[in-house]
Amino acid sequence: MATAKSFTRLLLITFLSLSFCFSVIKAQSSAPIVNGLSWTFYKSTCPKVESIIRKQLKKVFKKDVGQAAGLLRLHFHDCFVQGCDASVLLDGSASGPSEQEAPPNLSLRKEAFEIIDDLRERVHKERPDYDVPLGRRDGLTFATQNVTLANLPAPTSNTTTLLTSLATKNFDATDVVALSGGHTIGISHCSSFTNRLYPTQDPVMDKTFANDLKEICPTSNSTNTTVLDIRSPNTFDNKYYVNLVDREGLFTSDQDLYTDSRTKDIVKGFAANQSLFFEQFVASMIKMGQLSVLTGGNGEIRANCSVRNSDNQYLVTVVEEDLESQSELR
Ligand code: HEM
Ligand SMILES: *[C@@H]1O[C@H](CO)[C@@H](O)[C@H](O)[C@H]1NC(C)=O
Ligand SMILES: *[C@@H]1O[C@H](CO)[C@@H](O)[C@H](O)[C@H]1NC(C)=O
Ligand SMILES: *[C@@H]1O[C@H](CO)[C@@H](O)[C@H](O)[C@H]1NC(C)=O
Ligand SMILES: *[C@@H]1O[C@H](CO)[C@@H](O)[C@H](O)[C@H]1NC(C)=O
Ligand SMILES: *[C@@H]1O[C@H](CO)[C@@H](O)[C@H](O)[C@H]1NC(C)=O
Ligand SMILES: *[C@@H]1O[C@H](CO)[C@@H](O)[C@H](O)[C@H]1NC(C)=O
Ligand SMILES: *[C@@H]1O[C@H](CO)[C@@H](O)[C@H](O)[C@H]1NC(C)=O
Repeated sequence: MATAKSFTRLLLITFLSLSFCFSVIKAQSSAPIVNGLSWTFYKSTCPKVESIIRKQLKKVFKKDVGQAAGLLRLHFHDCFVQGCDASVLLDGSASGPSEQEAPPNLSLRKEAFEIIDDLRERVHKERPDYDVPLGRRDGLTFATQNVTLANLPAPTSNTTTLLTSLATKNFDATDVVALSGGHTIGISHCSSFTNRLYPTQDPVMDKTFANDLKEICPTSNSTNTTVLDIRSPNTFDNKYYVNLVDREGLFTSDQDLYTDSRTKDIVKGFAANQSLFFEQFVASMIKMGQLSVLTGGNGEIRANCSVRNSDNQYLVTVVEEDLESQSELR
């Protein structure tokens, strides 16, 4: 069950991660930041931004805690494909809201996009009519399905594949194990893990756990879903790692972290010490949140999260002032 404390922490983490359209970063870590981003970016121009978002997210999560998982995963998908440029939000991007183009295995929650749009509107209602010199800006490039698939590792990946893939983005083994801890909340469709059940059962998987999963997913094409963390599905904690130690990880990519000698001890460490996990998760998330960010004169500030300004016919009448203030930036 979710506790108030874990929610507060989750909120903080979500804060650290929201980089879409409006960037929100909290100044509470000594992690290095790249040129052009600042911890106090909105301090003078939009001091209320964090409280507006925090308040609204609390409301959203209270109604449906699962939306936190949706947002967390959305941030991961955005950053891994072309960098944290909110390309994931663009209609027509392969993992974006345009459902017919999204491969089923990307299955991002539709509501997450709506939450972001809504947050943006709330923030902008409060925002004074001038813009800020530096910060994370929105990309102009659509992410194609190719680029998307090439940048997001499959759940059937082993640790070697994960480490190799994430090394191209400068993540080390500790980052890989910590970021995978995002699977301490949220759900998955059967198709993401039935490779471990059919035709033959993955011998690494706990037998009882496997039988339970077979009930939920009677065939590999079952469209049912199940939780990623059986011990505490809605709580942001270190139980994901305890699951791995007990061979109750859901994906191959999860469980293999405990099999592979390069990551096993890191898993054990996080399973034994939640503070250690939180500390590392925040550091790795901050690192992830800076993947190929656009700053200064690159990219733009979208008036509508799901459309580039140049494609936005609505723009002229509705947010002229916004655009004006943005042009001063360039
Ligand atoms: C390391 C490689 C990763 C792989 C292979 C992976 C794979 C997956 C898959 C297959 C799903 C379930 C999709 C479905 O069937 O519906 C999922 C869900 C999820 N992932 Fe990952 N993921 C990875 C990394 C991450 C990272 C870095 C984060 C965030 C820090 C993250 C956060 C989540 C969350 C929160 C969910 C649940 C989403 C929901 O409930 O809507 N994942 N992931
Ligand atoms: C996507 O990749 C396939 C091969 O993997 C290639 O044939 C196709 O041209 C690529 N499409 C784009 C838009 O890059
Ligand atoms: C997603 O599914 C497509 C088929 O729809 C498959 O070709 C691709 O390898 C899968 N990608 C991942 C990341 O699972
Ligand atoms: C990991 O997966 C890759 C790609 O499927 C495969 O070539 C390799 O042999 C696997 N490594 C291990 C240690 O299982
Ligand atoms: C899963 O889906 C099947 C149909 O594919 C259904 O018969 C079964 O009751 C479902 N199980 C759970 C636990 O949702
Ligand atoms: C699902 O797979 C089973 C066999 O595993 C097959 O009999 C059934 O027709 C499939 N259903 C769909 C909707 O593809
Ligand atoms: C757990 O990790 C924290 C953070 O790194 C550290 O300060 C603490 O000493 C560790 N606790 C134990 C019991 O090792
Ligand atoms: C943003 O654009 C989409 C079209 O892609 C439209 O459906 C939506 O209503 C727009 N949102 C706002 C707040 O104008």
